[in-house]
Amino acid sequence: MSVASIPILAAMNSGEIFRQALPYVLLGVALIVALDLAVSFVYRGNPSPRSKWNWWDVLVYLGTLGSVGVLGFTSLAAVVRDGVLGGWSLFVHMFGAGAFTAVLPLLALSWAHANRAELRPAGGQSSPPKFCGISKLMFWLILACGFVVTMTMLVSMLPIFGSDGQHTLLDIHRYSGLAVVVAAVLHLYGVAAQQVGLR
Ligand code: HEM
Repeated sequence: MSVASIPILAAMNSGEIFRQALPYVLLGVALIVALDLAVSFVYRGNPSPRSKWNWWDVLVYLGTLGSVGVLGFTSLAAVVRDGVLGGWSLFVHMFGAGAFTAVLPLLALSWAHANRAELRPAGGQSSPPKFCGISKLMFWLILACGFVVTMTMLVSMLPIFGSDGQHTLLDIHRYSGLAVVVAAVLHLYGVAAQQVGLR
């Protein structure tokens, strides 16, 4: 096998590479959470104040986590089990897709203000941030990758790209979808840690 043929083979086996990488990525996320928990317990500083959520915040958050949960579970479990997403799993994936596509703009419009980067002047008076740094970062990642994961599928339904282009779009869809799942898990962890006073 020549070195030049490696990218071609990688493109042909991209679904299989994704399947094999999946357990390592999920294990990595679990390790990050476990490590951060351990560090937070050992070096417990002054925690940020618990943030107050209204019913709309809770509703939008539950909609986001619920739809990402359905999308992540249906696709990733099917990929690990069968290698591809099809049958009932794909059917349920499409329900999650509808919910996610509807909730993503609501999340952006309702939460962007509370997640902007704040450069507070020294000694300046400002109300305590609603979200900690990791949650803010994950929020923007969910928005960016959520946009990509949605657009890759919407665009591939249009007669613009050929078969090769559609394979590439599916590949981008897989990885951006995984990034949304990872970001949602870390976001939930950040929020939970802040609410119990670990951050
Ligand atoms: C967190 C969000 C999402 C994740 C984690 C995710 C994950 C995945 C994965 C891993 C696959 C490929 C399975 C395979 O290799 O066969 C897939 C396929 C698919 N996804 Fe998603 N997805 C997400 C969001 C969406 C959205 C928003 C839509 C629709 C707008 C969508 C529509 C589809 C469709 C139609 C397929 C099948 C494509 C094909 O086999 O040709 N997904 N998804």
